[in-house]
Parts: sequence; C-alpha cells; structure tokens
Amino acid sequence: MSLFRPDIERIAGYMPGEQPQDTGWIKLNTNENPYPPSPAVVEAIRTAAGGRLNIYPDPLGKRFCKAAANLFNLEPDWFLPANGSDENLTILMRSFVDPHEFVAYPYPSYILYETLADIQGAKCRRLMLNADYSINHATARPIVEQTKLVFVPNPNSPTGNRWSQDDLLKLVPPKGVLVLDEAYGDFADVPHRGEILKSELGRQIVVTRSFSKSYSLAGLRFGFAIAHPDMIRGMQKVKDSYNCDTLSLAGATAALEDQATMQENARKIRATRTRMTSALRELGFTVVDSQANFVWCTRPNGGHKEIYEALNARKILIRYMKFPGVTWAANEFLDGLRISVGTDDEINGLLTALRQIV
Ligand SMILES: Cc1ncc(COP(=O)(O)O)c(C=O)c1O
Repeated sequence: MSLFRPDIERIAGYMPGEQPQDTGWIKLNTNENPYPPSPAVVEAIRTAAGGRLNIYPDPLGKRFCKAAANLFNLEPDWFLPANGSDENLTILMRSFVDPHEFVAYPYPSYILYETLADIQGAKCRRLMLNADYSINHATARPIVEQTKLVFVPNPNSPTGNRWSQDDLLKLVPPKGVLVLDEAYGDFADVPHRGEILKSELGRQIVVTRSFSKSYSLAGLRFGFAIAHPDMIRGMQKVKDSYNCDTLSLAGATAALEDQATMQENARKIRATRTRMTSALRELGFTVVDSQANFVWCTRPNGGHKEIYEALNARKILIRYMKFPGVTWAANEFLDGLRISVGTDDEINGLLTALRQIV
C-alpha cells in the first residue's frame, strides 16, 4: 500500500543530468560554465562563513535585491532571490496554479515544467514547436487562452534558439501568467534586461534568472525572479521563510556586482560556440544557431545514441535527449545531442573524438 498522493505515485520524477564523481571527464552535459566564478565570490563566502552562521539569513535577501535593482534599473521590490531558479519555478507553480488548472510550455523544451505540473496536480499542455523551432501561434493560441501559467525558456533548451518579444507577448494567457525562464539569457548576442516587464502586459509576466550558468555558480544554488512588486509580494508568501542561505546570498551578491568577470566568461563562451557550431556542421551535424551556452545537434540519418555512447566510452559526457510525440519528426519522435560549450581545450577534445566516431 502506498501512502503517497496518487499524483506522486504516478510520476517518475525529474531526472537531472549525470554528475560523475570521479575525475578525468570532459563534462559537457549540464550546461555548467567551464570558467571559475569571480574571485570576489569566494572572498565574500569566506567572510560570510567567518561571520554569524548561528543566526538566520535575511529572509528577503535585501542586499542582493538592491544590487540587482542597480543592475536592472528597477526598484529592489521587483526581485525575489531563490535557491536556484528551479525553486522560483516551483514557487510560481504553487502561487498561481490550482490542481486541475492548465499549464503550458513549448515542446521540445525543459521537461521539469511538466514534472512540476504533475506534482501540483495540474494539467500540462505542450505547445508543439514548428520543425524550425519557431512557435506555432495558430495551435498555441487556443491552448494559451485556457492556461493559467505558460513557461517559456528563452533561449530555449535544448534547442538554443531565442524567440522575439513579439512572439512572447502572444503567449501571455488572457487570465494568467507568462514565465520567461532566462536561465541562459546572458549568453545571447544581445541579452535582455527585463524590458518586456515594462510592456503593456508586463504585470502578467515573471522573468526568472539563474546563477548556475553565466555566473559559474551551479554548485552554490542561487537564482532570482523579476516581476512587478505585486507579483513578488504574492510569491513571497509561498516561499520558505529562509529559502536562501547566508553563504549563497553573499556569494551571489558579489558575483552580480562583478559584471566584468561574468561578461568576459560569456564572451569567451560565445566565441567557442561559434567555432564549435562550424566544426560540427563540417562533420555533418545539423546545428541550430544557439543563443545559449550549448548547441543542439542532429544528424540526418540519426545514430545519436550511438554517438553519445562512443563519446561516453572516451570519458566525454554530453546529453542524449529524446522527445516522443513530436508530430513533424519521423515516427513522431525527435532525438538529438545537446552539447554544452566548454573551454577551447575541452571542445578540441570533443571534436577530435567525433572525427574518429562519425
Ligand atoms: C531552462 C532551464 N531553466 C532552469 C534551470 C535550472 O537552473 P538553476 O540551476 O538555477 O535551478 C535549468 C538548468 O539546467 C534550465 O535548463
């Protein structure tokens, strides 16, 4: 006899990418940043650790919010710090969606949204992308009209493309909220700075950001949401009282205040992304022009899983992904390889191995 709620019993749970604990891997599977964070982060954490760990952290992370307000040219009450941007996605689901209401997200995309909907007992609808990964507004619109919460990763994962503000505004539900998940936003050629929140529909939009990618802090667990203060106040009621700890608040604030390090790392990643995209195309891969720190590759004749396994045998870890129910794909099934942009040396290692394999 299971004591779990039927919704929990029924689902498999989200499966995060592998984190091998032994050394010697070229790790290109979970879109971490290959470069270290700002030295100011380590310093700030060390100072915070030498301070008062016996007392609770600031529940609202006000120092962080002030630093973010300076950067985004907004007031501090537009920000909600969280334990990774995934926590903000959970808070959003719990804040806005009653069991049996509808949630939607583009497909193929980040599968966690579906898991969060399942946990909440909500119904999840997929907004099937076109074969070029553009949004099919004709099929999306009727779904969006009945939806409480629409999640859109921009740039999208795993495809790496980014949609225009025009596209996004069409996905704001008439009686609901659009969540723009900008986990990879800083890697775009022209990054956004929350401009969409100032549009006419801005009060129905929440932007989420992560420190795991552009700020090189996946191990710290920190993210934040940006939205109109009315939205932030509601979300604060749902979060854990002390959702961010003293060390992550100190580290994230220092990282945010050192924009030069983050921007320089993002610049290097963009340069490697361009080089890697051309090299993969020369090897016969179809590669989407990416605005993120990873690329999505497919081959006309498939064999993706075999390539993933051959790389794995050489201790090169990438992500093999498959998406059933993609109507325009052969056998309604899309699969491919998502490869994070590593250092130049790591990508050289990947390309040498691929030249032997394909
Ligand atoms: C689209 C997207 N959103 C959110 C996240 C999670 O970010 P965080 O590490 O800040 O929880 C990821 C992580 O891979 C992601 O791909």
